[in-house]
Amino acid sequence: MRIGIIGGTGGMGEGFALRWCQQHNVIIGSRDAARATESAKNYSNIANTIYGNRFKASITGDENISLSSQSDILLLSIPYDTIIETCGKLKEVINDNCIVVSPIVPMTRTDAGFAYIPVEQNSKSAAELVADNLPPRTRILSAFHTISETKLKKVDMSLEADTFLCGDDHANVTILSRLVSEIKGLRPIYLGPLSMSYQAEILTPMILNAAKKNKLKNPGLKLVE
Ligand SMILES: NC(=O)c1ccc[n+]([C@@H]2O[C@H](COP(=O)([O-])OP(=O)(O)OC[C@H]3O[C@@H](n4cnc5c(N)ncnc54)[C@H](OP(=O)(O)O)[C@@H]3O)[C@@H](O)[C@H]2O)c1
Repeated sequence: MRIGIIGGTGGMGEGFALRWCQQHNVIIGSRDAARATESAKNYSNIANTIYGNRFKASITGDENISLSSQSDILLLSIPYDTIIETCGKLKEVINDNCIVVSPIVPMTRTDAGFAYIPVEQNSKSAAELVADNLPPRTRILSAFHTISETKLKKVDMSLEADTFLCGDDHANVTILSRLVSEIKGLRPIYLGPLSMSYQAEILTPMILNAAKKNKLKNPGLKLVE
């Protein structure tokens, strides 16, 4: 599978690339092609050191718009306030059957602590905003909101965590669930249609507040039965 990461030069992008590059061709995206190539080179060096002969696929870099037309899965690894502008550019070039995944958390700091922007500003969840600006809705999914980039980048570490998935199309949810399960120790938990994504997104400011007040280091979430 070809996995394109819009904004792949950020911390989450590095983590996704290192976790998936053994089995998939990962394309790091940036607004700047040279920055994408440089990051891809750095991640490839890290992957070679870690995996050696087991690193069989590839990590390459490209400008965001250009990689979108080549990807089977597209991660939107960008800040919330850039969704409208970025999706506006991707809309014309992205393949009809490309699955788009939003890990985006709309978060801000207030005097009380980290807060969820849609509650503060009566705005849309990140996934809903993506769906509004990058139709059709069936291809938009959300996941990975509560995974810390620090742990994602430590590829030898088993995450021992769950991540909530939202999406309207069950076939696409199944594909993403498989991709989630390839990350060591990460369990996909289907939460419901895209309209429920706010319930997953809002967990991140909650976790960060709990971590800060209780001196916890990059905590994750796991459901227990
Ligand atoms: N960090 C975490 O632990 C974590 C955990 C869970 C979820 N998330 C979510 O995952 C997403 C990525 O996180 P991150 O920490 O990797 O983000 P980030 O470092 O803040 O940004 C990622 C990339 O977005 C691109 N970008 C910045 N401004 C942009 C703009 N105006 N238009 C288009 N692209 C722009 C930049 O790439 P170029 O400058 O190269 O284009 C940047 O490297 C965020 O939505 C975040 O909420 C993060």
